Amino acid sequence: MKKTILITGGAGFIGSHVVRRFVNKYPEYLVVNADKLTYAGNLENLADIDKKENYAFEKTDIVDKQSVFDLFRKYNFDGVIHLAAESHVDRSITSPDEFVFTNIIGTVNLLNASLELWKNAPEGKLFYHISTDEVFGSLGAEGYFTEVTAYDPKSPYSASKASSDHLVRAYNHTFGIPAVISNCSNNYGPNQFPEKLIPLAINNIKNSKPIPVYGKGENIRDWLYVEDHASAIDLIFHRGNNGETYNIGGNNEWKNIDLIILLCKIMDTKLGRQDGTSERLITYVKDRPGHDARYAIDSSKLQGELGWSPIPEFAVGLEKTVEWYLANTGWLERVLSGDYGRYYEKMYAGR
Ligand code: NAD
Ligand code: TYD
Repeated sequence: MKKTILITGGAGFIGSHVVRRFVNKYPEYLVVNADKLTYAGNLENLADIDKKENYAFEKTDIVDKQSVFDLFRKYNFDGVIHLAAESHVDRSITSPDEFVFTNIIGTVNLLNASLELWKNAPEGKLFYHISTDEVFGSLGAEGYFTEVTAYDPKSPYSASKASSDHLVRAYNHTFGIPAVISNCSNNYGPNQFPEKLIPLAINNIKNSKPIPVYGKGENIRDWLYVEDHASAIDLIFHRGNNGETYNIGGNNEWKNIDLIILLCKIMDTKLGRQDGTSERLITYVKDRPGHDARYAIDSSKLQGELGWSPIPEFAVGLEKTVEWYLANTGWLERVLSGDYGRYYEKMYAGR
């Protein structure tokens, strides 16, 4: 069936994997990627598909209400997959305002534009909001986040994502906008901006620089390969039930320090360094303020109801990720030097 789908934040880490999957798998869909291209947005992530006929890029700031409404009137979307966000906890601690604008106001603008378009004929339409497990706060040694765990966000990032989740549910309940939400654990894989833990550590190990580990390195995260998140999003977009929430996680908990030690071993092998060389770069640094202790997702609803399961073992996924970063040094250098802004000018001049 022909559909026109809006994917917001498609030039970012997870968004680019979702856009690629939809463009390649659903040639009958027109996939419109709307992205502001902040520091985290990089059109080079989509260079392999950007000439496809069923793909269009629109440089859009979702905080700009008029631009959002113009976009919806231009394309008459059947579905929205909303990933655009400010996504880095550390940045939300130094400058929270941008998180409120993009994650809350931006989401409301998208909801209002969807409402204008769909209010008289909501059948077959869907607003799919991509969220995070961080809205649930922090776990102790035991237990898991389920779909009914009470929200208890602890950082400006997670508070802004929690607000946007509440707004999506409120628009679903009050105005009848067809909507689903998923809350996913930490992602890793190719194309992640190198200020998040895994790509930052890979880059520093490669350059023999210190690997900064916050506090004692005992905080626990549940890591999921980005392609597994994209496959879950595909499934939920097509088969998720209106008004439902789905938790997505890798059942793959790692203490930060254990993860870094595993990464160091993989890097030593890949770089032909003597075993133990990279571990010597580990440097404990001042902890993040309000650092959440543990995240762990129970994804049995998604697995049981929709038949989803994650694929690679962590060591395999991590090795694939390391290989990608070592093979794509140009991408890394351009991202770090800000060169991809010029790539955008070149690729999209006059479009
Ligand atoms: P990212 O920071 O790599 O990408 C975000 C994208 O949004 C970028 O392309 C950026 O240019 C765009 N953007 C930012 N502000 C915008 C605005 N005002 N208007 C339009 N576009 C804007 O983020 P990511 O890691 O790919 O995360 C994507 C989504 O998934 C986010 O909503 C995030 O909360 C959620 N999520 C991320 C993780 C994770 O581990 N990375 C886990 C669970 C959920
Ligand atoms: P991050 O990738 O920022 O994701 P999030 O905070 O959303 O979980 O960080 C993952 C974990 O790694 C988190 O516990 C903070 C920690 N961390 C470090 O120890 N050192 C670093 O340099 C970074 C960026 C993160």
